[in-house]
Amino acid sequence: MKTAEVKFSISLFDSIDELNKEDALLLREARKVTQYAYAPYSNFNVGAFAKLENGKTVSGTNQENASFPAGICAERTLLSTASSLFPGVGIDTIAISYNNLDGKSDRPVSPCGICRQSLVEFQDRTKKQIRVILSGMEGEVQIIENAKDLLPLVFGADDMK
Ligand code: THU
Repeated sequence: MKTAEVKFSISLFDSIDELNKEDALLLREARKVTQYAYAPYSNFNVGAFAKLENGKTVSGTNQENASFPAGICAERTLLSTASSLFPGVGIDTIAISYNNLDGKSDRPVSPCGICRQSLVEFQDRTKKQIRVILSGMEGEVQIIENAKDLLPLVFGADDMK
């Protein structure tokens, strides 16, 4: 038997003030767009804001539905928007924030499993690694250089060949 270890690094910052200008701008916008979430069932407003390879920016928020499974996460709203407005263009960096209207929002929260899967396929098909910035409305910020790190042993199109 052999053992394989899967490791990855996260950059940790105490607050948005420690980020470079461009990353701080993306996070500020992600925090801002949480107000456009439609989340009357969870009261958990998620905002995503990304800079694409072509320099354009796009945003996404979670959009819930009384039929719960019909709702969609902020990250996948953003990916669909990016892909619809700028087909084939990769994402350089995505910032993800949330405003928990029933609680605190002072620590980073990671994308759900389905969004991780979608992020990885998006970066594979655009051949552009996606940087991920995570933070609440205040407090610690995490930066992950490659969205793929968030989903080790990912299932992808190549696995079906
Ligand atoms: N949500 C996101 O938008 N992104 C995630 O990665 C985690 C969860 C949304 C889905 C739902 O509207 C609410 O947050 C609570 O799960």
